[in-house]
This record gives sequence, structure tokens and C-alpha cells, in this order.
Amino acid sequence: MSITAQSFGATREGTPVTLFRLENPSGAYVQVLDYGAILQAVAVPDREGRLRDVCLGFDTPAEYQEKHEGYLGALVGRCANRIRGARFQLGGRPHALAANQPPNHLHGGNRGFDQYLWDHRIEGDSLVLTRLSPAGEEGYPGALQTQVRYTFGPDNALLLEFQAVSDADTVVNLTSHAYWNLNGHGAGDVGGHTLSIDAIAFTELGEDNCPTGTLVSVVGTPFDLRSPRALSDGWNADHPQIRQGGGYDHNWALRGSGLREAAVLHAPESGITLALSTTQPGLQVYTANFLPESTGKGGAVYGRRRGVALEAQGFPNAVNQPEFPSTVLKAGETYHQEILFAFTHD
Ligand code: BGC
Repeated sequence: MSITAQSFGATREGTPVTLFRLENPSGAYVQVLDYGAILQAVAVPDREGRLRDVCLGFDTPAEYQEKHEGYLGALVGRCANRIRGARFQLGGRPHALAANQPPNHLHGGNRGFDQYLWDHRIEGDSLVLTRLSPAGEEGYPGALQTQVRYTFGPDNALLLEFQAVSDADTVVNLTSHAYWNLNGHGAGDVGGHTLSIDAIAFTELGEDNCPTGTLVSVVGTPFDLRSPRALSDGWNADHPQIRQGGGYDHNWALRGSGLREAAVLHAPESGITLALSTTQPGLQVYTANFLPESTGKGGAVYGRRRGVALEAQGFPNAVNQPEFPSTVLKAGETYHQEILFAFTHD
């Protein structure tokens, strides 16, 4: 295993950005930036043994800054997904957050964790990125010391370990917003990919794109991914929830607990499979329904449905839904979650 660092240019404000490449002995690699703790590339072998970069991204910090609303590869925090009305009560006190997707709060606010430079250190085969989010940032209570550890193994498995501690009760929900295209990041729409998810229910979306609080059975719906189903099958389905999301943009309530396999994404063309395991209770699947057309790495064309984000996380708006698993982190307690992206090919 090797970890090498190289310059990735500078932000628009002139802050230098470093790219870290974690490479295993087979030559497969992942690239992570200290800007936004962004996952910038994941190059793994297809069935011919040829490396394909399957993670959407950009070649410069300025593009990540200008196009940040797509959250490409981003480490999303302090709280991923939506918080209804950009407010919540904690300890009997109201808290107002930035309503960056009015009237809701989305992915940490106007300037989320994906738009800051993180500190870094290399520990053995891992890249460790840390960031102190001050109390009051985007409206959140508590100073939050955050850490994400990226480890890429000889078996082409990428492990993300998230840790956070706050000095006051707060809300934490960290995830990776990587978009995957297992035919290659610039290979067009992902409708032919199949996806399976180990879940028998999903959280119904209301008209404001926040969960209504109702868990709906997947049985007999396009959300039944207990067996693999083509993504285009799902986004073309005539179902009110698909219309509401413009495709898949929903949270599945995963079965089980602890680190367990939750979803399998497969591309028949390249033969590449991504198996996602996580400790999280939910998996938001977003089929890039509103990703604007733009130019990505090496001139690749990105846009609507040209990637799929598999965001293992706490349920959206959980802080306002007491029946959902809690996303509250108590002062002094340690938040710990894991996501494992394991790549194989047939
Ligand atoms: C959300 C989408 C949102 C997108 C922004 C996804 O995680 O589920 O609703 O539009 O992020 O990139």
C-alpha cells in the first residue's frame, strides 16, 4: 500500500489544496482531497482487468467550489440530507439553521463540511482528515471535532470511518456523497446498472421532499430492491413517490445493525460490482435527477442520471421525527459510523 501527496492547485481564495492517492499493490487507487475531504477518484479493474475511474469528480478546486451544489464526492456534514423548515428543538431550546434549500436545510447549510479545508495526517495505510466545526456554524450548537479515516485495502475495498465529539448536545449525520458510474465516470447514464438494497421499507417523501414520518413497505412498488433491479426500471416507474423525487431520491430503512452489507450496485457492461456495507440505519439513493449538465474530469460530460449516489446515513429530518433512529450526539459522547465500498468484477 502507498499513500502519496501532490498539489491539486489552489482554491479561488488562493489556499493550496493537496490530493492524496491511496494505491494498492495491484495499481488500483483512490484519490482524496484535503479540500472538503472529497473523494476525487476511484480507479478499479473491470472484467478485462483494465482500470476504470468510477467516481465522478473535477480536476480543479475552483470547479468543486463553483459546482458545489452537486456535492460530487463530498464529505457531507454536519448533518447530511434535509432538516424540515431548517429548525429543530434540542434540550427544550429552538435552533435555527441556514435554510439553503428553502424552506429546508440541506447537507449542512450554505457552507457545509465539503467546502472547508481539512487537516490531514497519514497513519499507516490510512489517510486521516480532521476538522473542528465551531459552535454556531450554520446554526448548529456545539463545537464539533470531526474525523474521517480513509483506508483502501489490497482487495479494492475502501473503508470510511467517521468519528465526532461535541462539547454540547448537537445533531450529526456524516456521509459520502460520491456519485458512481461503474462503467466509468464519464460513461453516460446509469440506467443499465442494477441495484439491490436489503430493506423492506422506505421513508415516504412529502411535498417538501422531507419524510412524512411514514415508513412504507417496498412490496409491490418500484422501491422493492430486495432483488437486483435496473435503475431505469425504477426511475421510469409510474409511482407517485418516483414522481415526487424525479426518480429515486429516497431513504431506505436498512435491515439489521452493525456493519452489514446493505446494497449492491452492478454494471453489466464493465462487469464491476460495488457492494456497500455500513453501520448506518438508512441509505439515501439519489439517481442524480437534478444534477446539472457540466464538464467533469478530463472533459467528461456529467448531468442528469449520469451517476448514482448511495448515501449511507441517518434518516432525513430525524431530529424532528422522534420515531426515527436518533441523529443527536450528546455532549462528550463519541459518534462513530462506517461505510465500506467494496469493488469486485465478474
Ligand atoms: C439529495 C437530493 C439533492 C442532492 C443534491 C441528494 O443527497 O437527496 O435531493 O438534490 O443531494 O446534490
